[in-house]
Amino acid sequence: MVSPMANTLNQRAPNQQAPAPGRPALMAIEVVGLTKRFGPTMAVQDLSFSVAYGRIVGFLGPNGAGKTTALRALLGLLRPTAGAARVAGYRYRDLPDPAGTVGAALDGGACHPGRSGRQHLRALARAAGVDEGRVEDLLGLVGLEAAADRRAGGYSLGMRQRLGLAVTLVGDPGILVLDEPANGLDPEGIRWLRGLLRSLAAEGRAVLVFESRAGPGVPDGR
Ligand SMILES: Nc1ncnc2c1ncn2[C@@H]1O[C@H](COP(=O)(O)OP(=O)(O)O)[C@@H](O)[C@H]1O
Ligand SMILES: [Mg+2]
Repeated sequence: MVSPMANTLNQRAPNQQAPAPGRPALMAIEVVGLTKRFGPTMAVQDLSFSVAYGRIVGFLGPNGAGKTTALRALLGLLRPTAGAARVAGYRYRDLPDPAGTVGAALDGGACHPGRSGRQHLRALARAAGVDEGRVEDLLGLVGLEAAADRRAGGYSLGMRQRLGLAVTLVGDPGILVLDEPANGLDPEGIRWLRGLLRSLAAEGRAVLVFESRAGPGVPDGR
């Protein structure tokens, strides 16, 4: 099971905002007593943690530890057996502007294989009412310019991860939730991802990362 003690990425962002005097800071993510059982399988047991804006919080857990289950519960994609998860103070399904609030990349995030990365991002930008110019910025940010017009079905795992990261940023959300984003990246890509996540947090975003092995926040991670 995913253990809160496995938290390895905690770091303080330079511009973390102080709450107004006398007011507690609104947590970007708050998970309390989250439990999910699938029949006899206890996938997540009594998981509690919070993520502040401007912080990166990471969990490490082996395959089957319950990482994806915890993220799906957070995103309202499954009903917890017990406990609750709140995003920006809301249950996910009650969020007034989900796309502008949370960007999520789930394990092997799906995208139409016949579409190029650029087409995929443009479609999402249109749906979110976002200027298409942002798509070009995002392609640059994730290093996909050269592959932007190739069919996503032919992308390597690392390229799909980069596209997935761009997808999370389309609506410029203040909260990012990433399921094994370093999977399939080469050592250089992992270093790049670590730097990118730090800069996204330094802009005041909350970043929640689940990893199954040495990932972007592990100090000696390749
Ligand atoms: N929809 C499901 N039905 C039954 N069992 C599931 C389902 N989703 C996950 N599980 C089980 O819950 C456990 C945790 O899975 P998962 O959250 O995918 O782990 P991780 O993402 O850490 O690899 C595993 O034992 C898995 O087989
Ligand atoms: Mg998983």
